[in-house]
Amino acid sequence: MNHKIAPSLLAADFANLQRDIEMVNQSSADWFHLDIMDGVFVPNISYGMPVMEAIQKHANLPLDVHLMIVEPDKYIATFKKLGAQVLTVHYEVCNHLHRTIYAIKEEGMLAGVALNPHTPVSVLKDVIKDIDLVLIMSVNPGFGGQKFIANTIQKVQEAREMISNSGSRALIEVDGGVGLQNYTDLIKSGADVLVAGSSVFSAPNPIEAIKKLKTI
Ligand code: DX5
Ligand code: ZN
Repeated sequence: MNHKIAPSLLAADFANLQRDIEMVNQSSADWFHLDIMDGVFVPNISYGMPVMEAIQKHANLPLDVHLMIVEPDKYIATFKKLGAQVLTVHYEVCNHLHRTIYAIKEEGMLAGVALNPHTPVSVLKDVIKDIDLVLIMSVNPGFGGQKFIANTIQKVQEAREMISNSGSRALIEVDGGVGLQNYTDLIKSGADVLVAGSSVFSAPNPIEAIKKLKTI
């Protein structure tokens, strides 16, 4: 299966956001990855609804929204209206994860569940057939440009095994510190979607960087 690349706009130049969105539109990228942070679940605040509304006007690829917020249930319908096609919530903030997953699906979006680096893949055993995407955090969420945590490779393998054994069709997405130095290992381990922020937007030629991440 061909893997997808989802550039994270967190690493874009916010003073030239339209320019950076057009660049991604013209590249071989598959999704836009949008990081929504609330300063409570993670020690940072990124951007919110008005900015996402502006992004939606220009983005020509599916919007893959990663909610790093507490109480995500409150905003599921809002993010649907803002154009999210994939909506991912964190396992660590959902007391009623099954209910949240179905609320996302009922809005017509793909439902993703993200796992912090300390959260084992095994916690998803009883919902793996209900979800469309497992997002494995390869850094502690909150900031771009951090160092990739090596243990992620093993977690991707575990997720791949759980998905194969259960007959789930969930995609595996990896987020944080992904670049040319580790993307082949991640794909070989079973990753389907790679999020790339700084490795794309800090590259001298971002279109070329995305093309390289697509090549295996
Ligand atoms: C981190 C975010 C990531 C971030 C990735 O909390 O979830 O999506 O933008 O950025 P890089 O690729 O720079 O690690
Ligand atoms: Zn993210």
